[in-house]
Order: sequence, then C-alpha cells, then structure tokens
Amino acid sequence: MLARSLILRSAGLKPVESTVRRSRLFRPLVKRFIAGDTLSESLDACRSLLDRSLKITLDYLGENTHSEAEANAAKDTFVDMLDEVARVPEVRAFVPPPAGGPFNSEPLNISIKLTQCGLDLGNDVAERNYRQVLDAAKPSGNFVRVDMESSEYTQRTVDLVSKALREGYNTGTVLQSYLHRTDDDVELMVQLQARVRIVKGAYLEPASVAYPEKSKVDEAFVRQSKRLMSAGFYPAIATHDEKIIEELKAYAAAEKIDPSRYEFQMLYGIRRDLQEGLRKDGYNVRIYVPFGSQWYPYFTRRLAERPANALFILRSLFKG
Ligand code: FDA
Repeated sequence: MLARSLILRSAGLKPVESTVRRSRLFRPLVKRFIAGDTLSESLDACRSLLDRSLKITLDYLGENTHSEAEANAAKDTFVDMLDEVARVPEVRAFVPPPAGGPFNSEPLNISIKLTQCGLDLGNDVAERNYRQVLDAAKPSGNFVRVDMESSEYTQRTVDLVSKALREGYNTGTVLQSYLHRTDDDVELMVQLQARVRIVKGAYLEPASVAYPEKSKVDEAFVRQSKRLMSAGFYPAIATHDEKIIEELKAYAAAEKIDPSRYEFQMLYGIRRDLQEGLRKDGYNVRIYVPFGSQWYPYFTRRLAERPANALFILRSLFKG
C-alpha cells in the first residue's frame, strides 16, 4: 500500500507527467492498457474481444471538466459512443431479457464518470448531462455504468445514480471496498436491486475514509461480493485477484448461484490468461476498454496497482 501511495503521489508531479507523456519508451506500456486514442481504434480492439465471446464496457478517458462547454463535449462523446455501439452487430442482435425471465446482459455497454459530466460545476450540470446520456441509451436498451471516483464524489454519485434508478433508467454504479462506508452502500444497492460493479478502489484516500491495510480491503471485497452475489442484481465482480476469484466461484457453487447471475470484470490488457480461462469455463467476463487521449491519470492508477511496472519507468527515467 505504501508503494501504491508513493507512485500515485510522484505520478502527480508535473515533470514526471510530461516525461512519461513525451517519451516513446512508455508507448508499449501505454498501448497495453489503452485501446487507442479514438473511438474507432477502440472499436477495433472491441472487435477482437467480442470474437472471443468476451463482453465489453467502453470507457472514454478523461476526468474532471472545468467548464460547461467541456462537460457538454464529454456528454456528446458518450452519446456518439452509444450511437456507434448500437451499430455493432452483436449489439443489434441483442434481445433484452424479458421482465422476470433469466437475465442476459448486453454484449457492449459504456462506463462514464460524473466529473466528466460536470460534477465539479454542480450537481445540476452533471445530472443534466447524465440524463441525456441515459436517454440516448434508451432506443437500443443499453446500460450505462457510472464509475466511482475519489471519496469526495462518492455521496453525490450514489445519490444521482439512486435517483436515476428510482426513475427506471438502465444504469448502475461502482462501489469501492476500501471505503469504510461501503457495506452501507451495498445494502442500499441491494434494496434498489441495482447493478453494482464491486472493486477494491484505485484512488489515494486518507485512513479516515478508507482502510490503509490491503488485507482489510481484500476481506471487505470478499464479504461485499458475496452479499451482492446472494442478494443483489447481476453484480460485476471486478478484480484480477485469482485467489479471490476462486473463493467466489466456490461460494457461488455452494450457494447454487448460477454463473448467469453475475459477471467477472477485468481491465483491458491485464491478466488476459485469466480473462480467457474464465470465459472458457463458461463464466460471463466483461473487459473494461478505455480509449482517448487523456490517458495519463488512468495509466498512473494502473502503475500504482503493480509497482513492478512503475519501477520499470523509474529505472528508465534515471537512465536518462
Ligand atoms: P490487486 O491489486 O490485489 O491485484 C491482484 C493481482 O492482479 C495482482 O497480483 C496482479 O497479478 C494483478 N494486477 C492487478 N492490477 C494490475 C496491473 N495494473 N497490472 C498488472 N497486473 C495487475 N477503481 C475505482 O476506484 N473506481 C472504478 O470505477 C473502477 N473501475 C474498475 C473497473 C474494472 C473492470 C476493474 C477490473 C477495476 C476497476 N477499478 C476501479 C480498479 C480497482 O479499484 C483496482 O484498483 C484494480 O482492479 C486492482 O485491484 P485488483 O482487484 O485487481 O487486485
């Protein structure tokens, strides 16, 4: 956890950022995690995943917007993504499950961030843009997931998503097991029968809001995943932690929870062997496919999860 926080702090320094952005040396690593700069490049990456029967959530990289014009532009990109996604043959062929029937999730959906929709400019700006995205998803019946960001946004994200859910929109969010509050949020989402992606959490948070110890985060992740698998609605278990995945598969088998009632999610470029293996064993596996030119913050969070990757960068920086 110490290495993670050190990496996140140093990655935030401007000279480090400009070196990593400029240097050709990091391109292969960036390419491993990011599907391309443009929507069309990312759809090429999606094609090969769909061909291997993997499901996808497409993510347009970018974080906080600082003006209404920027927030509206991000919203327009989300709407364009939904339009393009609706043209993909697998999406066109997708028949949404009948109410009360066995659940069958869409092959390709999108993930968005409320700070991209303008959350720093006020809840009203973010809500307006979020709703426009949800309305754009309606004709194809597609699902829109709201990613979870740092803890200063958690309550507002939970509130806006809950409101949209109560109004019947096809949406859901992400909960982070490292936060002390998450058991309560899990219960709220169980009550709402919302689709939750459960993750460990990727931001730098103080001990007042998040567990500093990895063992506590892992423990909470397992507990909350089990609760969502038993009582929630089609949860997404988002982790590359093989030991935890094995434990949750065994839990589902013991509790007679059919694999069609949940999915595993992993990030593009990470543990491809595990992604394919689970798929071959008959589990639903969805890959989070990020694209766009604003890749730096996403990239640094991935480095922080895997200090070996960051060490590679540091060594290269010192070699000049
Ligand atoms: P953990 O970090 O314990 O790693 C377990 C093992 O996975 C490692 O030993 C290694 O083998 C492998 N691994 C993990 N990360 C790796 C990397 N970067 N490179 C190479 N190998 C790696 N977070 C958040 O705060 N808000 C969000 O909305 C999301 N959304 C999201 C979507 C999806 C689909 C996933 C999979 C993850 C997220 N996350 C997220 C990120 C999440 O919070 C967490 O930081 C990462 O998933 C890493 O944690 P793991 O659960 O994989 O376990």
